[in-house]
Amino acid sequence: MDLADCYKKVRQRTDAICEPLQTEDYVVQPVVDVSPPKWHIGHTTWFFETFILKPYFAEYQEFDPNYNFVFNSYYESVGTRVIRTDRGNLSRPTVIDIKRYRKYVDDAMYNFLACGDVSDDVRELLILGFNHEEQHQELLLTDIKYILGHNPLFPAYSHDWHVPKALPVDGGFIKINEGIYEVGFNGEGFSFDNELNRHKVYLNNFEISPNLVTNAEYLEFIEAGGYHDFRHWHAAGWDWVNTNHVEAPMYWHQVDGKWQNYTFHGLQPVNRHEALNHISFYEAYAYASWKGLRLPTEFEWEVAATQFNWGQRWEWTESAYLPYPGFAKAPGAIGEYNGKFMVGQQVLRGASEVTSPNHSRITYRNFFQPELRWQFTGIRLAK
Ligand SMILES: [Fe+2]
Repeated sequence: MDLADCYKKVRQRTDAICEPLQTEDYVVQPVVDVSPPKWHIGHTTWFFETFILKPYFAEYQEFDPNYNFVFNSYYESVGTRVIRTDRGNLSRPTVIDIKRYRKYVDDAMYNFLACGDVSDDVRELLILGFNHEEQHQELLLTDIKYILGHNPLFPAYSHDWHVPKALPVDGGFIKINEGIYEVGFNGEGFSFDNELNRHKVYLNNFEISPNLVTNAEYLEFIEAGGYHDFRHWHAAGWDWVNTNHVEAPMYWHQVDGKWQNYTFHGLQPVNRHEALNHISFYEAYAYASWKGLRLPTEFEWEVAATQFNWGQRWEWTESAYLPYPGFAKAPGAIGEYNGKFMVGQQVLRGASEVTSPNHSRITYRNFFQPELRWQFTGIRLAK
């Protein structure tokens, strides 16, 4: 597929995700981690304007010089920006303005791409732009779920939303022998810089579950008083549970003595067979401890992942998010993409049911702070 087709496909998918939204849904920011949908559609547009059109398309006229302040996310090299907590306080630019901005940049991109061959540098930036927009497609879905799922009316996002069903695998834990293994990206095509360099690790004998923990299994932990037993929690996790009065995964509600769960279809009874969703690293760790087991490290996960089905949930690992040997930041603003976040976060492996198609790899490293759980996160046990 050529670059213009790739561009069109990725941009249209973002529009399709927003299609069920009402104008008011685009604007709110209920907590700092959640960005208003209108910010996502402006920011992904800003990315192509800032990193492709302004530096490489001589005839491009900037849509509005004030937008850099509004839609820059975290790039210090690209100037000052609105603070993240204020993204939901902006009634201007309006949703209509931002959709106009999107169309303007799209038209300019098609003109730019119609000019002929692009250099290798630009091609690389374009592919990063596509992957960046795909990351925001997942964030859009997680943020939309948070916005609608924290509305007291629990409106459905879309009754047409289809959740792929993964059947559990029979049999016990998969055994992996001790030895030296290679991890990290080693393929053709795109990877993020944090998947490099490929390198060797030594792993001891370990075993890993072929299945994710289900809601029914996690209910046993809740009913056994897991949230009230300090022995299973990190000190920081125990503080988090008590400060926030956490009693269950995000989106679970007790209604008439029964657990209900907010989904894209609205509030529904908790499906006991479904993979557990929306838990923090602290909860994942505490559950594993309660079972007398542990979470895998990111390297164990990567080495074993050819032997189980993955892709339903982002799976918390025991690994801190750190640079691989030989990791190097790209020069310029793009060097801020991943490297500066390598402190205080846990690695998650796999992908989720809201990850964009063809965006997943066995070497992909997602990362979040241990208390966060609005992403589609789950648990795979190891020993
Ligand atoms: Fe971004």
